[in-house]
Amino acid sequence: MTTTTQPPDTATLHAFRGTMATVASPVAVVTAMDGERPHGSTVSAFTSLSLTPPMVLVSLDNRSQLLTLIRRAGRFGLNVLGAQQAQLAASFARSGPDKFDGVAWSASEGLPRLPGSAAWIAADVDDYVAAGDHTVLLAHVVNAEPGEGKASPLTYHQRSFGTHTPLAS
Ligand SMILES: Cc1cc2nc3c(=O)[nH]c(=O)nc-3n(C[C@H](O)[C@H](O)[C@H](O)COP(=O)(O)O)c2cc1C
Repeated sequence: MTTTTQPPDTATLHAFRGTMATVASPVAVVTAMDGERPHGSTVSAFTSLSLTPPMVLVSLDNRSQLLTLIRRAGRFGLNVLGAQQAQLAASFARSGPDKFDGVAWSASEGLPRLPGSAAWIAADVDDYVAAGDHTVLLAHVVNAEPGEGKASPLTYHQRSFGTHTPLAS
């Protein structure tokens, strides 16, 4: 793994941000417990990684409080958000210990789970891979459940929340 320590020049950084804004991403709230208190953060850098065994990948900023909690527990929850949950995505993108205040949740596999999400995954971390200013979590799935009713997904594209619309066939 090559990790450069040279800061990129401003033009490259600007171009990279603009380029990545063209990529429509899924949106999840990734969760962990902090003792008795639930914690969660909005994450779009996640994907399916392997089928046998079932694995997922999540990339977290090294400054993330959630990353500290997951390192402690070795386990996280992935609440894939539906289009009706944009407000949750915005509020879990803040920092601080109070993000769950007033938010309904239940414990599933010992992890905070948001009702009404498009899908739920609980995963145990096998590896933490340093990658620039982020850490990539490679984790095996201990539970995966689609939500009821096949909710339309929440997406993030050009710095706005939206959803997916199938093309007319
Ligand atoms: C749409 C969207 C996607 C995001 N995706 C990520 C991500 O993939 N990884 C990450 O570390 N932060 C991501 N963030 C930023 C975090 O949600 C934000 O930094 C949050 O304050 C982290 O909180 P924490 O320190 O409690 O973990 C995203 C924010 C938004 C709005």
